[in-house]
Amino acid sequence: MQNYQTNNLKIAIQKKGRLAEKSREWLGQNGLDFTASSRQLFSRCANFPLDIIYLRDDNIPDFISEGIADFGIVGEDILREKNNDLKIMKKLDFARCSLFIAFPQKKEKVSLQELNGKSIATSYPNCLENFLKKNNLKAKIIKMSGSVEIAPSTGIADCICDLVSTGATLKENGLVPMYKIFDSQAVLVGNNNLNIKRLIEAYATNKNCK
Ligand code: PRP
Ligand code: ZN
Repeated sequence: MQNYQTNNLKIAIQKKGRLAEKSREWLGQNGLDFTASSRQLFSRCANFPLDIIYLRDDNIPDFISEGIADFGIVGEDILREKNNDLKIMKKLDFARCSLFIAFPQKKEKVSLQELNGKSIATSYPNCLENFLKKNNLKAKIIKMSGSVEIAPSTGIADCICDLVSTGATLKENGLVPMYKIFDSQAVLVGNNNLNIKRLIEAYATNKNCK
């Protein structure tokens, strides 16, 4: 096993999920030479002093703010929910999706005011709470860590607030998106104390890396 404690720069990317493969591809397209296997928790680049750390996406912002990783690739949705003070260095134009409030299919549109008194299941309680506050609405937030779309049909909640990408999951569960809270895509983020000098030095001494 390679030693994790090094002076190499460290980038945290998602291990499994909507950003994982594209994040690895993006690093490869930028000239970084590394191999990733499904059980590995980090890879070392062969042509640049960089270690790639594989994490659950909701842990990435904390690793960066605590200085364990210098950079990360994460969805804007996670950044908004975690509200860490991280600098977006580049929007990466993949893993596009939107956070929506969605209701069980009915003919008529549900007005925003009708959210008052409703229960809403979500994995984004902070984003939802901000949205409700901004619109002066009072609803009960039911926190779920996944499979949120099941909530209305099982009677756990009246409606949901969750990510929509292709819309297939909503459709399969008889739900329609009604109010968009924000759009999201993958972004490259860095700690606000990111040592750019260290990055430039690493780059300058490693001319192999395009
Ligand atoms: C995400 C999200 C939606 C779905 C949206 O779930 O929470 O359920 O993807 O994608 P779609 O619009 O293309 O269908 P994920 O697959 O990450 O599972 P989880 O919520 O159970 O973690
Ligand atoms: Zn989901």
